[in-house]
Amino acid sequence: MRKYDGERAFTYEKTRVNNEAWQWQQVAVESILHRYKPCHVLDAPVGTGRFFGVYREIGADVIGIDVSRDMLDIARAKGFDYTLLVADLFEARWPNFVVSTRFFGHLTHRKKIKFLAKVREYLLFSHGFDAYEYIAKENLEIIETHEMGDGRHCVSLVKRNGVIPTASHKQGQS
Ligand SMILES: C[S@@+](CC[C@H](N)C(=O)[O-])C[C@H]1O[C@@H](n2cnc3c(N)ncnc32)[C@H](O)[C@@H]1O
Repeated sequence: MRKYDGERAFTYEKTRVNNEAWQWQQVAVESILHRYKPCHVLDAPVGTGRFFGVYREIGADVIGIDVSRDMLDIARAKGFDYTLLVADLFEARWPNFVVSTRFFGHLTHRKKIKFLAKVREYLLFSHGFDAYEYIAKENLEIIETHEMGDGRHCVSLVKRNGVIPTASHKQGQS
């Protein structure tokens, strides 16, 4: 994935906020968060913290992680009292509710598998149509899914059905 540093980080949200897909995604994610009201959320990658407003509305404790210090600086400047850490989401232990937008679609096949294998309980994420196959292979249950209707943009809340991935489970993946 390309780096989100410097000017790219600085202009990231400003240049997307009026984009139709961004706005659709924002509404879809916010509506799910408003209904499920998770008390603890890991937002990974948190980027510029686009969901901080809704996290405050639902009273969630938030940890945000991102590999880009510059994206985190922009998120921090929004003035919310959340824990924001420079970290690789593949190395982090995921809590029970994770939000991840605009990330899955950038991953390679192997990384998509690795990403979904990290789900402990709930994952709310944005993705393309290819994700349904990965979700099925990982035996995740789709709680709800929203499709923008352009054949590209989807948002889903998925849940691991009882089984937390183990070492032997991961070995079974190729
Ligand atoms: C397209 S942005 C999405 C940010 C935010 N989720 C959003 O919806 O605007 C992708 C972000 O992923 C971050 N990133 C890339 N690889 C990562 C990794 N392995 N762990 C954590 N963050 C990563 C980048 O620094 C960038 O901020």
